[in-house]
Amino acid sequence: SANGVHLLETGWGLVLRYDDVADLLRRPTIFSSERFADSPGAIHDASDPLQRRYVEVFGEVMLFQDPPVHTRLRGLVKRTFSPTATSRMREAVERVTDEILSGFAPDQEIDLVTDFADILPAWVISDILGVPMADRSRFRDWSTGFSAPLDPTCQGDERTAAIHDGAALIEYLEELIESRRSAPGDDLVSLLVSAEEEGDRLTGDELAGMIALLLVAGNETTMNLLTGGTQLLFDHPDQRELLASDPALIDSAIEEMLRFDPPFRWIGRVMREDYEVGGTALHAGQWVFVSLTGANRDPRHFDDPDRFDITRQPNRHLTFGSGIHYCLGAPLARLEARVALPQLLGRFPNLRPGASGPRCQPQFSVRAYESLPVR
Ligand code: HEM
Repeated sequence: SANGVHLLETGWGLVLRYDDVADLLRRPTIFSSERFADSPGAIHDASDPLQRRYVEVFGEVMLFQDPPVHTRLRGLVKRTFSPTATSRMREAVERVTDEILSGFAPDQEIDLVTDFADILPAWVISDILGVPMADRSRFRDWSTGFSAPLDPTCQGDERTAAIHDGAALIEYLEELIESRRSAPGDDLVSLLVSAEEEGDRLTGDELAGMIALLLVAGNETTMNLLTGGTQLLFDHPDQRELLASDPALIDSAIEEMLRFDPPFRWIGRVMREDYEVGGTALHAGQWVFVSLTGANRDPRHFDDPDRFDITRQPNRHLTFGSGIHYCLGAPLARLEARVALPQLLGRFPNLRPGASGPRCQPQFSVRAYESLPVR
């Protein structure tokens, strides 16, 4: 449409322009995040206790809440996940990156997804939270239990299985929380157990939900930053050369990777009041999806938006969202890319696409590589 707002037959509104996306994300009372229980195509069988448990815990996480509930939950977690706290996580990120990359021989063909990018964020956050090493690989399977049911294309048995995975994650986390209550350490779970603000604390279910959110929110997204970012350098050899000749460009290169190819493509909201976006009337009860890709490629905000330019300044992309739900893990995601990409490219300067091309999962809101062979 001419004004960057599309209405689908389902009644959903799609919002594509930068100014509209930014405006909408900053109006949480009109565009509500309480979208969990009635997410598009949500089915939950109330007679199944695992599904009930899933909704009870995941439905209450701050990502799906509006003020004042959101304000309270975010207040209780923000100090443990502040930029300063994140910079202390550098050691963990460096150690985990080294642990993974040391396992590869030069010129060995690896799958950048399964052998590297899919493991790194999950291990880093497990390390920070204090999840025992032996349990880490299970999180990768469980984490889909959080995101898949929110994807309207995930239905039927696949959906039920994903919800059961989510319930298994909750059960695991309840035990982890109990063990830290009785024997606290210096890990993030222990900090969250004791986090207090004005005499207020997280309840058991809120803790499990918060930890699950931290565990899964950064997995597929950061994985996509690492794989998508590498692929962008493959696709733009001049930019890769420029980065090799001037390593100080890594920060602006990461911002450009984030802008050009946002891991989160759509953010959904449910409308609580009628509101006009770009001249189109939208109505209370309607579902709206904002396009982060659209915003980040809006020519009103970015010169030559379809050009991948690692020196781009300024680069105020909306990849981490905007407003009260602005990504809590943005400093960690940036840190992971800042450590992992130079290490990967530095150790394997001849890194190039493998024999078969990349494959992506057909998902609606989070774009996920399934496979990216490199050698
Ligand atoms: C929220 C993107 C990595 C934790 C968000 C939102 C976006 C986003 C767009 C806002 C969603 C909304 O408004 O509904 C990303 C991207 C990442 C990334 C692109 C990687 C490149 C991480 C990491 C963590 C994390 C590593 C934590 C370990 C969260 C949390 C929220 C959130 C807890 C909810 C904040 C709230 O509701 O107040 N993220 N994220 N994210 N993200 Fe991230």
